[in-house]
Amino acid sequence: MHRTGADHPLYLAKYKKAVLSFCLLFILNFGCRQKERSWSIYKADASSTSYSPYSDINTNNLGKLRLAWTFNPDDATEGARFGASESNPIVIDGIMYTASARHRIYAIDAGTGRQRWSFDPFHDGRGGGVCRGVTYWEDGADKRILFTGGDQLFALNAETGKLILQFGDSGRVSMNIGMRDDPKLISVKPTSPGIIFRDLLIIGNEVSELYGAQPGYIRAYNVRTGKLVWTFHTVPKPGEPGYETWPKDAWKYAGGANDWGGLSLDEKRGMVFLATGSPSYDFYGADRAGQNLFGNCVIALDALTGKYIWHFQTIHHDLWDYDLPAPPNLVTILRDGKKIDAIAQTSKIGFLYVLNRETGEPMFPVEERPVPASDVPGEQPWPTQPFPQRPKPYSRQRITEDDLSDFSPASHDSLLKTFRTLRYEGLFTPPSLKGSLNFPGTIGGSEWGGAAYDPATGILYLKSNESPEINVLKKLDTTGIATHLSGFDLGRQTYRIYCAGCHKMDRYGDEPLYPSLVDLKKRMSETDAIQKIRDGGGKMPAFGGILNGKEKALTDFLFDRQGQSLSIRKGDVSEIEANSLSNTLSAQEKSKADTAARYLNVSAYGIWRDPDGNPAIRPPWAVLNAINLNTGEYEWQVPVGNIPELRKPGEPETGSTGSPGPMVTAGGLVWIAGSRDRSLRAFSKTNGKLLWTFILPGIGSSIPCSYKYRGKQYIAISVAGNKDTPAGSILAFALSD
Ligand code: HEC
Repeated sequence: MHRTGADHPLYLAKYKKAVLSFCLLFILNFGCRQKERSWSIYKADASSTSYSPYSDINTNNLGKLRLAWTFNPDDATEGARFGASESNPIVIDGIMYTASARHRIYAIDAGTGRQRWSFDPFHDGRGGGVCRGVTYWEDGADKRILFTGGDQLFALNAETGKLILQFGDSGRVSMNIGMRDDPKLISVKPTSPGIIFRDLLIIGNEVSELYGAQPGYIRAYNVRTGKLVWTFHTVPKPGEPGYETWPKDAWKYAGGANDWGGLSLDEKRGMVFLATGSPSYDFYGADRAGQNLFGNCVIALDALTGKYIWHFQTIHHDLWDYDLPAPPNLVTILRDGKKIDAIAQTSKIGFLYVLNRETGEPMFPVEERPVPASDVPGEQPWPTQPFPQRPKPYSRQRITEDDLSDFSPASHDSLLKTFRTLRYEGLFTPPSLKGSLNFPGTIGGSEWGGAAYDPATGILYLKSNESPEINVLKKLDTTGIATHLSGFDLGRQTYRIYCAGCHKMDRYGDEPLYPSLVDLKKRMSETDAIQKIRDGGGKMPAFGGILNGKEKALTDFLFDRQGQSLSIRKGDVSEIEANSLSNTLSAQEKSKADTAARYLNVSAYGIWRDPDGNPAIRPPWAVLNAINLNTGEYEWQVPVGNIPELRKPGEPETGSTGSPGPMVTAGGLVWIAGSRDRSLRAFSKTNGKLLWTFILPGIGSSIPCSYKYRGKQYIAISVAGNKDTPAGSILAFALSD
């Protein structure tokens, strides 16, 4: 946070009396707006702790915790599906700032839930796109809210919600300018908020996962002017560190290696920390032979200049889409009586990486171990991968036949049959032509919700998910016999490339965030579906640009006009004989890529399920973990979330996958929502006992936050929509008087 003279303790002491009497007067009239900055940044603070220092709400008085207010942005477009905002609200001096699912920005009175102002970055458009929160900056009376909407960065006056006209181009800056390729041809859309260091907003972005993606440059903008100040190339150019870990021209065509999960900052050291995702294309890397720095890395940069300080690569030459999904937690570890500043990085693969904050050296031993080779032509997986020896993985990392679920004898048999056809040698089994099992999976391990860190105890809390997937590579034919494709098949190919990432290969989606498109014809007309695909809305991007002429093909597929099923569970992964879309892609990229061979993972992101749609492995499917960072040992692990209809008599709760992460409070509690049972839960932080549950009106779709308003502690969370509040809502809880 930018400190100003008025924040200074001496200044405050000197004027305390005057301030107090002013406040008294003020309370009688309007209430005193004391400085309240305990949750003024995404995930609580610059260290990304998701920790609240307040203990008014605690293990002894949860019985008195009540819903204090609900805010309904009421901004859903007609007929839209229910919104689910991932925004973790921040609170500055009694005002909450957050984004709705439609991606409008709101300033809300944090004690009453009353709206102060709202801002629509899309001029009444359908909006949408993921927004995990906004960033606050101030210098004296100049107070700003910075956020991204689509591929634009905006600066608003925090008091009025009006654009700051001196910032960029009348209040906005295009995030496409300053990337590698022509800004007119690309669109990069950050999903998590940037972080402030002095007058800089440092921010990553989200890029495509396909061939031809932009590299995920990290950038810093001057908060006053919107001017781009520095850029760190996550796919290094000649002469930069890491360049040698790629083919020599890769910087011209390789992409990904982006930080989409947010950043952390050590203000005293002037260091910014971030974590990147895999290089693109996610599942095949013949055109990017090498370790691929700075993909899948924790990176420390000089916050002022963007200069490289250190990195730690968690996966070399990623072939599994094991992005690092959340900002590093800045932590302090006790070793031999000494306090050592460190960082803890969560991952989808189930490892926690604990690194020295200044040097990036692991705080616990990490072994480089040989991993399986690939049998896909052209692919050269890296021969070894890092295995942290401590803490032990927080997700199961290997399953056997005994782990397959048995909801019925027939479904078990079917799973067993599929399992035996797959290539599977545990972690880091590369994708293959016949199909490889990938576990814990791309929605496995810890997701964008990241971890909560209790600085008083050195314990880290995180949710882990377990969700196996199957990776099946198919060669894309570049000779172009696309005309032989039926409309249905062309529709299917289009779907695989552009839609399956969210709606999943089997079209079951990932409710509530990504809706199921199974039986679409029962609830939507073809015209409406095409409109939706063209314009997007909610978190659905607009696909107008790729549709041209393929409308019929896509609807043939989406409306099952060939009666074919896409589900992997039936082993139905058909050949891609030709793929007109990828041909186009290949043609565009041919001049850039140094290899013509292209493979596509035709079952990418599809959750492996049994024939009835149930999880393919036995529970637990999600676990809440408490890890002592001083010892590297677990304090406790409990299932989190429940699917009652799948819970067997006498067994514990099943756990339920979901991305939102926990919050820990000084009142002895760990708070978490995000599972399909719509519950917000509070666990004892010392023993993992479930102490309080509240059924929300929709799935709790963000990390919770906690703050004080006029001396009273509140807990608030973004909640997905239902039929009464389709736009979603924010619920705030406080103790009854
Ligand atoms: C980034 C994730 C994402 C991608 C990629 C995506 N969608 Fe969506 N889609 C969504 C979300 C989220 C919704 C719900 C939007 C809402 O509630 O307004 C949605 C809604 C829809 C709907 C309306 C469903 C209903 O029942 O209301 C259709 C149809 C659809 N998508 C088709 C597609 C097709 C076809 C593609 C590929 C060309 C695609 N989507 C790609 C996220 C995505």
